Amino acid sequence: MGQTASEGVGTAHRSDDLPPVTFRCCKNRDMPAIMEIDRESFFDPWSAATWQRELNSPIACWIVEETEGAVVGYAGIWIVAGEAQVMRVAVQKAMRNRGLGLALTQALIRKAWDAAAEAVTLEVRESNLAARKVYERCGFVSGGVRPDYYSDTHEGAVIMWLYRSGEV
Ligand SMILES: CC(C)(COP(=O)(O)OP(=O)(O)OC[C@H]1O[C@@H](n2cnc3c(N)ncnc32)[C@H](O)[C@@H]1OP(=O)(O)O)[C@@H](O)C(=O)NCCC(=O)NCCS
Repeated sequence: MGQTASEGVGTAHRSDDLPPVTFRCCKNRDMPAIMEIDRESFFDPWSAATWQRELNSPIACWIVEETEGAVVGYAGIWIVAGEAQVMRVAVQKAMRNRGLGLALTQALIRKAWDAAAEAVTLEVRESNLAARKVYERCGFVSGGVRPDYYSDTHEGAVIMWLYRSGEV
C-alpha cells in the first residue's frame, strides 16, 4: 500500500480540551514535522533517507494526525503476507496523555483492515507503559516476550497481536 491515497483517512474526537483530530496519509512534505516528533520520541530516530524510503514504499502505509492543521503524531504499518506490522507510533511530546495516541492507533488499525490485513502485530518495550496501555485499549493482546530485544537497554519486547475478528 503506497502513500497515494487521498485525504481523509478518518476523524476522531476526544472531549476535554482537545480540538478535533483528523488523520490522513502521510506525504513527503510532512517529513520535517514527522522527523521532529521522531527525534523527541525515539533513541534511534530515522534519517531523512530512511523516511523517504518508508513514505514511498509500496508495502508501507503511514498516516499523520493533525489538530488545527498541525501534525501532532504519526504512525505506520507494513503489510506483508496479510499481516500488518506496526513500525512506529508517536505523538508530539507536548501533546501526550490527551487521547491522541489512542485515536492515532485506532486510525492505523482501520488502515490495516482497509488493506485487508487479517491481523496487526507489534513489538513494544516492556517498560513502555503508556504505549502498552494504548495498545491494550485498542484490543491488542500479548503473545509473549522476546527477551533482550533492545540493544540500548537489553529489555524485552512484548509481542502483541490484534486479529481482524476483534476489529475496533
Ligand atoms: C505511546 C504514545 C504514542 C502514546 O501517546 P499518548 O497521546 O500519550 O496516548 P494517550 O493519551 O491516548 O494514552 C496514553 C495512556 O497511557 C497512560 N500512561 C501514560 N504514561 C503512563 C505511565 N508511565 N504508566 C502507565 N500508564 C501511562 C495514560 O494515562 C493514558 O491512559 P488513559 O487514557 O487510560 O489515561 C506516546 O507516549 C509516544 O509518542 N511515546 C514515544 C514513542 C513510543 O514509545 N511509541 C510507541 C512504541 S512504537
